[in-house]
Amino acid sequence: MPSDINRLIIFDRFFDTVHRQIVNALKTPKGAQVLDVGSGAGGFARHMARKLKGKGRATALDIAHENLLKARELAGLEKLGDRVLSVLGDVEALPFPDNRFDLIWCSRVVHHHLPEPRAALAELYRVLRPGGRLAIREDGGRRWRFSSKGLAIDEDLQTRLHDLYDRWFEEEHGRERPDDAWWIGTLEKMGLKSVEQLQFPLKTPDMEVQLRYIDDWFRSFLSRDASGGYRAKLGPTDRWALERLTDPELECGVLNQTVRGISFEIETIVYIGAKP
Ligand SMILES: C[S@@+](CC[C@H](N)C(=O)[O-])C[C@H]1O[C@@H](n2cnc3c(N)ncnc32)[C@H](O)[C@@H]1O
Repeated sequence: MPSDINRLIIFDRFFDTVHRQIVNALKTPKGAQVLDVGSGAGGFARHMARKLKGKGRATALDIAHENLLKARELAGLEKLGDRVLSVLGDVEALPFPDNRFDLIWCSRVVHHHLPEPRAALAELYRVLRPGGRLAIREDGGRRWRFSSKGLAIDEDLQTRLHDLYDRWFEEEHGRERPDDAWWIGTLEKMGLKSVEQLQFPLKTPDMEVQLRYIDDWFRSFLSRDASGGYRAKLGPTDRWALERLTDPELECGVLNQTVRGISFEIETIVYIGAKP
């Protein structure tokens, strides 16, 4: 079973070109101080660091020490160690003074991890300098999908897994997954100006990474047993199917299937606004 950090690395690899497009679109000024909150394996912070000029720095903040160690190691390997800083911290109590950053990137943290996001959002606002921008990446309640003639997977399985996730989210957080209107309205209520929603299409990475991404998604439904989460809610037939699809020893395992092409329906959504 891959550890969390391996899952985060797969995610970074799958979205590598999307991250690069987002960094280009965000156009940070010379010397910009950028904060990546919940940076995971640090793929986005490294893309950002490559673009920063002068005294510009990308600070990767995460609550998990293991993730920061990996982010540091990868930054070092790419000779970006002096441009990527790492800080252990909690988005709900950020260890920075007010008005510190020109750009804050926060991807899949606020809705993924926090039942009540307002404390985190207030902290993000506090450490943003006036004129600085907050960019939040969430899925706005969307369901991603893939299809492939070559891949032997019951296509309805995806719908059932998404239904399961939505049900789990509602029980865990006591509300539906936030949609675009919720995010835009929330950023405006925080006091951000010129709030808008940007959308980035996926540029598919190589086939191995595509298959790993799908394998990882299936695994996520089997690995939350301890928290009483998904697995307990999986029906026995779907559990059996997922166990076979993620088994590296079996020919029917996703990673062992020979596939010519997969098409993904995934949009990356970024909600962005500026502090007055
Ligand atoms: C789903 S991952 C997203 C990682 C990366 N931003 C991405 O989009 O791939 C969530 C990340 O947020 C971190 N995290 C969770 N709760 C946090 C908190 N309260 N404060 C800071 N980071 C947190 C996790 O350790 C993990 O690295």
